[in-house]
Amino acid sequence: MNHFPKLFSTMKLEPYTLRNRIESAPMGVHGTPEGYITAEGTAYYELRAKGGAAIVTLGESMVDSKGTSHGRVNPLDDPGILPSLINTTDAIKRHGAVPSIELLHAGIRSQTQRPDGAVYGPSAGTSFYGKKIIEMGEAEIEQVVNAFGNAAEMAKLGGVQMCMIHGGHGWLLSQWFSPLHNHRKDRFGGSIENRARIALMIIEDIRKKCGPNFPIEIRLSGDEFTEGGMKLEETVELAKILDGKVDLIHVSAATFNDRTAGLRMFPSMFLPRGCNVYLAEAIKKAVKTPVNTVGALNYPAHMEEILESGKADMITLGRALLADPYLPEKARKGNEEDITPCIRCNYCISQNFTPYVKYPRGVARCVVNPIIGREYESRFVQVSDGKKKVMVVGGGPGGMQAAITAADQGHEVILCEKSKRLGGTLVYAEREYFKEDTKKLTEVLIRRVHERPIRLMIDTEVTPEVVREISPDVLIAAVGAEPFIPDIPGIKNKNVVVAASMYDEDAIGKKVVVIGGGLVGCEEGLHLAHLGKEVTILEMLEKAAADAPYLHWLGLMRELENSVRLETRVKCTRITEGGVLAVNEKGEERFYEADTVLLAVGLKSRTEMVESLRNCAPDFVVIGDCLRPATVMEAIHMGYFSAMNI
Ligand SMILES: Cc1cc2nc3c(=O)[nH]c(=O)nc-3n(C[C@H](O)[C@H](O)[C@H](O)COP(=O)(O)OP(=O)(O)OC[C@H]3O[C@@H](n4cnc5c(N)ncnc54)[C@H](O)[C@@H]3O)c2cc1C
Ligand SMILES: Cc1cc2nc3c(=O)[nH]c(=O)nc-3n(C[C@H](O)[C@H](O)[C@H](O)COP(=O)(O)O)c2cc1C
Repeated sequence: MNHFPKLFSTMKLEPYTLRNRIESAPMGVHGTPEGYITAEGTAYYELRAKGGAAIVTLGESMVDSKGTSHGRVNPLDDPGILPSLINTTDAIKRHGAVPSIELLHAGIRSQTQRPDGAVYGPSAGTSFYGKKIIEMGEAEIEQVVNAFGNAAEMAKLGGVQMCMIHGGHGWLLSQWFSPLHNHRKDRFGGSIENRARIALMIIEDIRKKCGPNFPIEIRLSGDEFTEGGMKLEETVELAKILDGKVDLIHVSAATFNDRTAGLRMFPSMFLPRGCNVYLAEAIKKAVKTPVNTVGALNYPAHMEEILESGKADMITLGRALLADPYLPEKARKGNEEDITPCIRCNYCISQNFTPYVKYPRGVARCVVNPIIGREYESRFVQVSDGKKKVMVVGGGPGGMQAAITAADQGHEVILCEKSKRLGGTLVYAEREYFKEDTKKLTEVLIRRVHERPIRLMIDTEVTPEVVREISPDVLIAAVGAEPFIPDIPGIKNKNVVVAASMYDEDAIGKKVVVIGGGLVGCEEGLHLAHLGKEVTILEMLEKAAADAPYLHWLGLMRELENSVRLETRVKCTRITEGGVLAVNEKGEERFYEADTVLLAVGLKSRTEMVESLRNCAPDFVVIGDCLRPATVMEAIHMGYFSAMNI
């Protein structure tokens, strides 16, 4: 039975019949120093084909590797790429998906390796990295057109069955489209027809070199969301020019040239789901070519509605397929409640988000899916040689994940939780209006626990006696952390509320001072401001929420900008009935009026409890916040591996 008939209807992209309407977004992984795809990279892409996507798109691949975007990406002007490309496309095809590849020229965003340090663009100026931009003449235009065609040909030799031209996000082609960067007066500048000319030449060259049975998709930014950049109305005109020339028009958003616009490119958790769909919808109304939409899409029912209502013909998923590569297959089989949701924390992309992070880390990781970036090595994990009795103490995300994985490995599992519900500290995050997907994550984990043959002991505080009674072979401590209470005069006042608790929102006064501007303090402050409170956040360090993934931090700071007062380098010295006294770096003391003081100065591991359990079973493992207060990522990953390692 087909639960989402539109989503799982086939689609013809000559000569291929796509098995459904889901494309796996281009999401590059770092390769060898030459940019070749590693075995890890192949396994990373393969998983999304195995999970059921119809098209799996390899991320940024350079048509001119001397002007790379951010290092170690596939060089399509180097035949050395072929063996790893063939291995990767084979791996995608053997699961019934069509391998595609994203063809990219960085233009004025290239971190060039040319000896003269020059970069090429539509108009002269200074490049993003401070280099001189050489305005491309007809000869250079011809070279670039050729480079795209040759790259597509190389990709085809490598087993790629279609391609995606990158015409968005601020890379070379969008530099030509955008009035921000194209100031030419010749046949390549001025009108949108002229600015689109190079794209048409590239399409023609690819057709000439790859033949008719090689579908071409073009990725555009529906709106650059940047002052002076491409607006939707003009992208619609651009799409009309491309109509019928390409096989699929893919509508993303924003440009890398504007940092905050990036929040639309990788939609932050503060934006609504499917926030870019309206861009695709407007373009679809103007063209006959099928249109693909992307951005913050997580739920099959929502995807079905988009297709059903004719807003788009295809859905592209990025982070959702990192969180759960099996999303398509789960949805097709009616098992959508088991999909691990992407929580849009943007950890995955922030790790490599150069130049804003000091160094790209060069590995893929997903907070909610421990396998991502470890797909290859996980094939070699030794399956446990026998059934063990595994006792997990603590029903937070770490403990639940450990119990789920241990049960899947065939062990006898007992999960004990002190409180009356599963979820641990994560339930506090659920009250925040932008954490709907985190709430869903908790629900999915709880559901998985209930679906498995796990003996669940709720409302059970584990002590060494309880462990001895159960007598497990393996004891996993996942007892979490508790709020750190600093020694500040007035800390025990009635007006002090702890952020890491199930506080009563109705009891919070109108004026709130949050002590501690880490990630929790900032997010809680934003949440309270959303409830209509006047919020001041005081942070001792130079930077607030310094522990947040870069793109999440950027989104959070933007949200805070207009809703709270945030002061850094301010140390709280005393809490009174009426507020908080604090000193700044110059030693000046100031009073901040407050009806309620929210304490968010961190957590401390339940070390004593952990130590009391240490010698109660033959094997003992400590995971999550009780090892070191961190995030749901450490909890879930350690939970998973602690069970896999049994
Ligand atoms: C307000 C707030 C918001 C947060 N938001 C986010 C977020 O958005 N993203 C993110 O990644 N992280 C967030 N965190 C951090 C995240 O919640 C924790 O890192 C994560 O929950 C740790 O998981 P855990 O399983 O190790 O421990 P916990 O979630 O703390 O779970 C430990 C469990 O053990 C139980 N327990 C304790 N002692 C015993 C015992 N003796 N016997 C039985 N059970 C016991 C506790 O009752 C609890 O349920 C937030 C934290 C707070 C306070
Ligand atoms: C880890 C990661 C890598 C990405 N790499 C690329 C890339 O190589 N090329 C590209 O055009 N977009 C890239 N993107 C953007 C995605 O293709 C997609 O447009 C974006 O994540 C929004 O979709 P989503 O909300 O479904 O994640 C990347 C995104 C992520 C999360």
